[in-house]
Amino acid sequence: MRIQRVALKENGYDILFARLAAFGGLLRERLAPRGAVAVVSDETVWAAQGTGLAAALDGAGLPYRVCLLPPGEQTKTLDGLQRLYAFFAEAGVRRDGLVVAFGGGVVGDLTGFAAATWMRGVPYVQIPTTLLAQVDSSVGGKTAVDLPQGKNLAGAFYQPALVLLDVETLDTLAPRELRCGMAEVIKYGAIYDAALFDRLRVPPQGAALEDIVAECCRLKANVVAEDERDTGARMLLNFGHTFGHAAETLGGYETYKHGEAVALGMVLAAEAGALLGVTPPGCAAALGEILQANGLESIYPLRPSTLLPVMRLDKKNDGGGLRLVLLRDIGSAFVYPIAEEALTAVLERMDAAWTPV
Ligand SMILES: NC(=O)c1ccc[n+]([C@@H]2O[C@H](COP(=O)([O-])OP(=O)(O)OC[C@H]3O[C@@H](n4cnc5c(N)ncnc54)[C@H](O)[C@@H]3O)[C@@H](O)[C@H]2O)c1
Ligand SMILES: [Zn+2]
Repeated sequence: MRIQRVALKENGYDILFARLAAFGGLLRERLAPRGAVAVVSDETVWAAQGTGLAAALDGAGLPYRVCLLPPGEQTKTLDGLQRLYAFFAEAGVRRDGLVVAFGGGVVGDLTGFAAATWMRGVPYVQIPTTLLAQVDSSVGGKTAVDLPQGKNLAGAFYQPALVLLDVETLDTLAPRELRCGMAEVIKYGAIYDAALFDRLRVPPQGAALEDIVAECCRLKANVVAEDERDTGARMLLNFGHTFGHAAETLGGYETYKHGEAVALGMVLAAEAGALLGVTPPGCAAALGEILQANGLESIYPLRPSTLLPVMRLDKKNDGGGLRLVLLRDIGSAFVYPIAEEALTAVLERMDAAWTPV
């Protein structure tokens, strides 16, 4: 079995790559819960993959209760949190029990935050079932709910006790969701590893996909170990996200899913870097090719400067300017603080090079 350690000073944990059928036995062996086991999932995930997990838990003789939430971001709210607290109360979850998050980033973030706060913290396990959750949200301990005031505003750093990962659960994932996860995979290649980036010229499948997911988990585990609380090195994971969030917001969160917006954002960041003279000019085209090979769009259909008003509101904006993540080359990224006037100038130069699609 492939194992990736997330080596934190305290509360380090393993990511175990195995098949869903083995997860009951692995939970028993690794965590031996004495109290109640409470599984949280969403209706879609459970319909697609629930029988597999149920059989695994039954097979290991682990009694459990399940709470199914409606799928989608609208579940990651205080209402969703309240539903989980009610479920934990009813299921009798205590510190000797276990909470299992079985789903994508929505289920993972919400369940993680519920576990962090229920009785001031009960152990929880992540079983990520989207590509985004497998390579990103299930590792690193960021948990949160959205508030009317903004996304992910209430949350905690709370590490899982274990991550159980089966890439075969992705077989039932909608192709669009898979593509969104690929955008984050391509991001890892772009910022950390040119060889990984090159391997993505052909969309990975089967064993190759597990290798790629494991590689992304290794990169994420390393950066989380270095910067658990997101005060430094983890910032590079925001590559493509400042431009991407702006495109996502401008599209009213409907035109683009997060991964699609990140795809556009990475190309825009590479173009901006080229104009600023810090990124080799070929990087934007290289990114565009890899994104297209994986079914993602790479050309932002509006004038780049339309992003400016939204970028100004970005939370990485510290008054006078923004901290962009730019590429030194494919496989190497750095933080580039930029004043607002300079950013405006760059986006206007990008407008000049932009042609309507
Ligand atoms: N904690 C972090 O570090 C972190 C990092 C990135 C993103 N996030 C958060 O993650 C969330 C997005 O996560 P997501 O993209 O996984 O979305 P998601 O959890 O909404 O899942 C996407 C859709 O796929 C369905 N689905 C999931 N697994 C499936 C499977 N195996 N088969 C069939 N359908 C399946 C879900 O029901 C849902 O409809 C956002 O809220 C974002 O803020 C958190
Ligand atoms: Zn992202």
